[in-house]
Amino acid sequence: YKRITTKTLIEMKDNGEKISMLTAYDYTMAKIVDSSGVDVILVGDSASNVMAGHETTLPITLDQMIYHASSVIRAVERALVVVDLPFGSYQSDPKEALRSAIRIMKESGGHAVKLEGGSEIKDSIKRILHAGIPVMGHLGLTPQSIYKFGTYTVRAKEEAEAEKLLEDAKMLERIGCFAIVLEKIPAALAERVAKSISIPVIGIGAGNGVDGQVLVLHDMIGMTHEFSPRFLRRYMNLYEEMTTAISQYVTDVKAVDFPNENEQY
Ligand code: KIV
Ligand code: NA
Repeated sequence: YKRITTKTLIEMKDNGEKISMLTAYDYTMAKIVDSSGVDVILVGDSASNVMAGHETTLPITLDQMIYHASSVIRAVERALVVVDLPFGSYQSDPKEALRSAIRIMKESGGHAVKLEGGSEIKDSIKRILHAGIPVMGHLGLTPQSIYKFGTYTVRAKEEAEAEKLLEDAKMLERIGCFAIVLEKIPAALAERVAKSISIPVIGIGAGNGVDGQVLVLHDMIGMTHEFSPRFLRRYMNLYEEMTTAISQYVTDVKAVDFPNENEQY
């Protein structure tokens, strides 16, 4: 595929090709992620944690999301770029939701938006879809509602919550979302959802019975190291490698070993 679109992702599901998705929040990282062949880049509101050091995703603003998204867009040639609508930019009413989505599309050049929630925000999602803006749903663990749940533990283990999640997923498909993220739910439930709907289901902590996987880039390359949920596979320990390199630099500067004769004018 030369350029991934929302249609490409649905084709991938039809062909049984798994979808790869990672976050990026800036130009330099997005360039690496896009060049590596990742299908979907998510400008996640996890930037609130990863980039700004907040404890939750709640503080990040729409303006800050637009800044991150426009930086990512300048780097990307192939991937589909999805941008999270941050907390407070879509919950009041459908008009506010549409206004926020329009700002993201116009000011960042992103290709689609993602909103957390099911039936509660149905009208807002419909309004955005009617404006021609592709929407990715997000069910299961929804970090913008952390103060309602109190913990980041596995969701939808109880039958009632599982049934509501399945109904929400079917509703999101019916109103026209092009894909859904399922975060931290039992693998069997995630597989059941993926088999019940024709749009791609991208999982994080949702097992491998879904149509694709997403991780937070800084977690999978091991730049962050305080966060270790079971679902996270670390492909590098960049925290350690960077610390080693940077302390070597400090040592070299102190020892007047850097710069040497070839590294000066
Ligand atoms: O903000 C984010 O990084 C996300 C993913 C974890 C799905 O929403
Ligand atoms: Na998010």
